[in-house]
Amino acid sequence: MLIDNHGRKINYLRLAVTDRCNLRCFYCMPEDGLNWLSRAELMTYEEMLRSCSLMVNMGIEKIRITGGEPFVRKDIMKFLTALSKLNGLNELSLTTNGVVTAPHVPELKRIGVKSVNLSLDTLDANRFFAITRRDEFSKVMETLEQLLKHDIEVKINAVVMDGKNTQDIIPLVEMTKDMPVSVRFIEEMPFNGDGHLYSGINWDHVRILEEIKDQYPAIKKLIDPAYSTSYNYQIPGHQGSIGIIAAYSRTFCGTCNRIRVTPQGELKNCLYDNGVLNIRDIIRSGATDDDLKQSLLKVFSQREKNGWEAERNRIEKTGIHESMATIGG
Ligand code: 5AD
Ligand code: SF4
Repeated sequence: MLIDNHGRKINYLRLAVTDRCNLRCFYCMPEDGLNWLSRAELMTYEEMLRSCSLMVNMGIEKIRITGGEPFVRKDIMKFLTALSKLNGLNELSLTTNGVVTAPHVPELKRIGVKSVNLSLDTLDANRFFAITRRDEFSKVMETLEQLLKHDIEVKINAVVMDGKNTQDIIPLVEMTKDMPVSVRFIEEMPFNGDGHLYSGINWDHVRILEEIKDQYPAIKKLIDPAYSTSYNYQIPGHQGSIGIIAAYSRTFCGTCNRIRVTPQGELKNCLYDNGVLNIRDIIRSGATDDDLKQSLLKVFSQREKNGWEAERNRIEKTGIHESMATIGG
């Protein structure tokens, strides 16, 4: 079992397999995209598999594949299939924007993926275009349909943005009436790739809940699962549930069980730190598994207490210039 310097169990790895994406969500990256990583900068599948296998041996029980958009990386299904066979891994899941995912759903089911997070900020095709700068709404809905048809648990991630999609909060909640989905509203975070001016948020978790309560006064609090980053609710009689993620307010750091690896192999102890160890460089220097294990144990014993401390300790003090596409959410 892996325990950090604050007594928190670490058992969950989020691995971003690419920084590239077929959408351009304005809260994640500029319209022109990012300065994409070169092939040589990316961890190879072999390097990722080796790191995952080692970390599973050390105590990681759950891996979530993120990006960028995982399905734009070539041969991703081969990699997922190999990962799904790791001994000791209890749960393999992924986060996708759903644009090219639908055809892969039967295969995901076959390799044992039980749950998929689908990014979807609006149910209106025009607003979808305004937010993502791409006209792909119908493809995402097709993916949603496929996932439900194949009995894969779906969590919908909706970033709540002042002046952009707050009118979608209630329609998204309404989806939970007849669909067994969990709709999760996420506070907007400052990872938009260009460091554009960002001074707090207008829609925090408290205001999001108020908005829902106004329409649905009977909304009930559910018991949050251990390590949950969301406050969970349900409207009586609805099939699905609602989650609110205080990603900006950072109220959940006390039970943080997760670490992240970026597409270039940077290990992050926290979403808000700027990388504490480069796994790719260690592997490429010819390190043995034991060398890598020792390096990992060292950084796990120096984790920041919470996202505020991690943000203060970032090297650049001129604001966050990172994109969510290299962090993986
Ligand atoms: N703030 C909050 N959430 C974000 N995501 C991407 N960028 C941001 C941001 N700036 C979300 C996406 C995706 C998840 C991985 O992270 O909607 O669902
Ligand atoms: Fe792509 Fe996700 Fe970023 Fe949108 S938020 S641009 S879907 S990586």
